[in-house]
Amino acid sequence: MNRAIPNHFYTTREQFLEERERIFAPMWTCIGFASDIPNAGDVYPVEFMELPLVMVRDLDHRLRVFHNVCRHRGHILVSEPGTVKQNIRCPYHAWTYDLSGCLLRTPHIGGFGINEVENFDRSEFGLNEIATAEWNDLVFVNMTGTASSFDAFISPLVDRWEPLWGKTGPDLLRLPKQHSRIHLDLNANWKLAVENYLEAYHLPSVHPGLNRVSPLQDHDLHLSDTFAGQISHCYNLGSGNDGHFPVFPEWSTDQFKEAEYPVLFPNTMLGIQPDHLFVMVVIPESFDRTREETRLYYVGDESLQPRFDNLRQEQHQFWSDVFAEDISVVTSMQAGRASTGFDGGVLTPFMETATARFHQWVGERVGVQIG
Ligand code: FES
Ligand SMILES: [Fe+2]
Repeated sequence: MNRAIPNHFYTTREQFLEERERIFAPMWTCIGFASDIPNAGDVYPVEFMELPLVMVRDLDHRLRVFHNVCRHRGHILVSEPGTVKQNIRCPYHAWTYDLSGCLLRTPHIGGFGINEVENFDRSEFGLNEIATAEWNDLVFVNMTGTASSFDAFISPLVDRWEPLWGKTGPDLLRLPKQHSRIHLDLNANWKLAVENYLEAYHLPSVHPGLNRVSPLQDHDLHLSDTFAGQISHCYNLGSGNDGHFPVFPEWSTDQFKEAEYPVLFPNTMLGIQPDHLFVMVVIPESFDRTREETRLYYVGDESLQPRFDNLRQEQHQFWSDVFAEDISVVTSMQAGRASTGFDGGVLTPFMETATARFHQWVGERVGVQIG
């Protein structure tokens, strides 16, 4: 049995901010979905680990991420998702930025009606931009700008999945307009959401419905340096009443029972099956508050046909129910970490090796020996 991460990793703001600095900031981290800002001028604010950020689609259609803070007095610039057309205007004193972050206008800065002032160079007061990368609709940021290439970060997962969905799989992903989003708020630390996703041990007791079609004994765990998680050997293609969705064309029929549910460390939880992919982005908001944003993607244009509407609705309901079942256990684990009669607990040797791997990974980054 391995000892698990102690309570204070889940219950203090100091630890939370240390994890932001030492785990999230130096590496590539997913913060959302490019499809949330499809058009030039679209903006989408994200509160990520107490950092106000905003995703922006600029006039050249390029996705950018900025610190969502005015360079004048620090007012939040964008408070709601929406479309701003050409500029982002601060609600406080109306300083205005273009969509590439340049400061364009500073009204009355030199006195009433005078929009310039000596010794103030607007070009030095553009929005602070953060390095971004996109992969299959997912938006990753590197806050320090010091991470090695995004390709190096993502290639182990790409290599792992290519034998499943082939080279064409990623290009065939389609996000339906309806029944493709799940939003959950948890009163729990982000790590508990990840840890719960990393094991199938709780399947029989927490997800009896899922366990009937995908029982605990048909699961393995996969561990690698950058991701880990469950592998199912009993995926049930076509469990709906209307047959099944189109499948990835390169996914071989003798692997139709295979499905994988890894966590790409630190905060991206994925599920790949022969006929769909889901991605749940874990967005830590504070040490005991976490948002989970999920998208369900299907295969090719055919999958968007109205004849699959009912099946898509059923699939969406299925995952919504499963993810909702996890909320109470994750929030209960958070409550347990207030106890003076418990300090992190232990991890079982067969069922929780991926959790142990994640704990080591966290420990290595924050300089604490775990286990
Ligand atoms: S704080 Fe934004 S214009 Fe003053
Ligand atoms: Fe679960």
